[in-house]
Amino acid sequence: MTSPQPGIFAEGTSTHRVQKYDIASSADAEHIRAALSGLAATIESQSDRGAEIVVGFGADLAQRLTVETPADFRSFETIGQGVRSAPATQHDLIIWVHGTGPGDVFDASLAARRTLADVGEIVSDISAFVYHDSRDLTGFIDGTENPAAEEGCEIAVVDEGLPGAGGSILLVQRWVHDLDTFHALDVPDQERVIGRTKPDSVELDEAVLPDDAHITRVVMEDDDGEEIEIYRRSVPFGNSTEAGLMFLGFTDELAKIDNMLREMYGVSDGVHDRVIDFSQARSSGYYFAPSKETLHRLNK
Ligand code: HEM
Repeated sequence: MTSPQPGIFAEGTSTHRVQKYDIASSADAEHIRAALSGLAATIESQSDRGAEIVVGFGADLAQRLTVETPADFRSFETIGQGVRSAPATQHDLIIWVHGTGPGDVFDASLAARRTLADVGEIVSDISAFVYHDSRDLTGFIDGTENPAAEEGCEIAVVDEGLPGAGGSILLVQRWVHDLDTFHALDVPDQERVIGRTKPDSVELDEAVLPDDAHITRVVMEDDDGEEIEIYRRSVPFGNSTEAGLMFLGFTDELAKIDNMLREMYGVSDGVHDRVIDFSQARSSGYYFAPSKETLHRLNK
């Protein structure tokens, strides 16, 4: 039996940090495994102190460590073109720290960086936060249709018997919003961009829901007509001059989330999600968060 990293589904935390690392090409697998096994111990001790740490490996690092991944797992590839694109900025390792207090989260992110210091170079460390009643900085509630943790676990974790069982694929994107331009739209137009009402997140009536609204683009069905679902843990970041959304989306099959993103950029039909007129994905990467047991076994 395998189990997912518990931090993925620990909800209700208000303070977040996302760190990205590159692992030195000169570091040998044994050395990296020792550092990551230290990280597994750090995850346990920090969880006892109130901060959850989730770790994900890029495809190259997973291969170097011979960590089994789902069949379609790969590095992120650029989607779209020019200003309407999500450029690939793949790194080797992601650490997502979250908790209820900024002090605990700071301590845990420092502990994580120290644990990896011998093998990895930190390339970014962004703090993020829950904004009001779980709203995106545009002012819209983010998460209305997100499955609850238990269902999220069923949706986003690889089943027993499959490669990467107990793990989950994670899309991490840093979206920078043009809040001045978005907020200059009147509220009914803002609602047409998202496809939901602003105060209370009610889906717009089908008769008035535009083809290029965000929810029109990302709601997709499989061959049996079942809605394709992912589990989202996105959080706002930034300050009064540069701000946006750290998108964190989990899935058991990379294609599910990649197809949503392709729909946002109009890859199949040329219709792009209006959200991308007001926000740019400055960084995008795919990571595999292996099961708890895989993390613990790395150095054995
Ligand atoms: C600037 C970036 C983004 C913003 C501001 C944003 C915001 C929102 C908002 C406000 C909602 C409606 C409330 C909810 O159900 O959560 C929503 C829904 C959703 N978003 Fe996004 N989102 C962004 C990027 C993405 C990306 C990159 C994906 C997937 C690749 C995605 C997938 C979804 C899904 C699956 C839903 C639920 C749709 C439904 O079932 O009705 N979003 N988003």
